[in-house]
Amino acid sequence: MKLRVTVLPGDGIGPEVTAEAVRVLQTVAGIHGYKFDFEEHAIGGVAIREFGSPLPRTTLDACLASDAVLLGAVGAPEYDRLPANQRPEAGLLLLRRALGGYANLRPAICYPAIADCSPLRSEVSHGADILFVRELLGGLYFGEPRGFTGTNGSTVAHNTMQYSVEEIERVARVAFEAARKRRSKVTSVDKANVLETSQLWRQTVTRIAESYPDVTLNHLYVDACAMHLITSPRLFDVVLTENLFGDILSDEAAVITGSLGMLASATVGGEVGLYEPVHGSAPDIAGKGVANPCGAVASAAMMLRHSANLEHEARDIELAIQNVLDAGYRTADIASGGKPTSTSDMGELICESVTEIVDMRYAYHAV
Ligand code: IPM
Ligand code: MN
Repeated sequence: MKLRVTVLPGDGIGPEVTAEAVRVLQTVAGIHGYKFDFEEHAIGGVAIREFGSPLPRTTLDACLASDAVLLGAVGAPEYDRLPANQRPEAGLLLLRRALGGYANLRPAICYPAIADCSPLRSEVSHGADILFVRELLGGLYFGEPRGFTGTNGSTVAHNTMQYSVEEIERVARVAFEAARKRRSKVTSVDKANVLETSQLWRQTVTRIAESYPDVTLNHLYVDACAMHLITSPRLFDVVLTENLFGDILSDEAAVITGSLGMLASATVGGEVGLYEPVHGSAPDIAGKGVANPCGAVASAAMMLRHSANLEHEARDIELAIQNVLDAGYRTADIASGGKPTSTSDMGELICESVTEIVDMRYAYHAV
């Protein structure tokens, strides 16, 4: 088993959390005798500083030539005043488009061990397990025309929300396929009472659903969805939605988990898979060794599942995260009474747990 991974640590806490994700992947490779190669490149603010571009050519070429890309975070306050196309975030958007992955999978799971970190009562969040399937290459993020017109004082800004049938179909299929492996329920989220793009979205998803008679489809307006996610998160299995709605709702869903630091993502459907935690660069805590690496480590697990077809190994990592939480280890964002743990100690503990899990499985098979 060989896997060439391009690692893009990026800005803020990105380098700290990706270092732990790489360490966990190296542990898995060591245990099973796999060969995982890692090559690091610059993206975002660090790339602007070093190469004058948020996505240097060398970075893009390395990503395109690899089997999977693991990204930390992009974004830094010093670039807040720059036009959208010169900001660190532009590097990530260009990369997403170049890699071609159109379906961004974002699981939001309530781990019992940290249920008390959520402001939701545990009887509300307990057992919640949602998979967001966010369309990642369309909508307002990429629609043309976009920009500013007019002069000072009478400036007008505009963006374009646009979806084709084909763009909706392909991401809908990913959602229905995923639902088949879960609880066979898809909630499609739109704003079809106002937006034409959403009317096309709803029609198209409804038609695709006919090929999946074993999966239940329902539709929700995005405003109602935002409320139901918090009042009854257990109602949801797979949530399928367009780019901007998915961006917003997946951050909201972090509340179910207890911390944005826990959330992982995988972007599939393209030539090369892209794996990134949902959290941002968190400049306020960068470099302090206190960031939660679980989202990045869980993204590495998703990488093994989707880019290497290593389902067992992915599950081992996910179970290890759970074990470490069950044992009471806590980074600052999920502190509430547990054992205070640094970013690197958390990574180390997850590695130890992965090793134990595999040892136990071999011991079990030996008897
Ligand atoms: C995310 C982030 C990105 C997005 C930013 C950094 C461009 O918020 O992955 O959710 O909006 O997609
Ligand atoms: Mn976001």
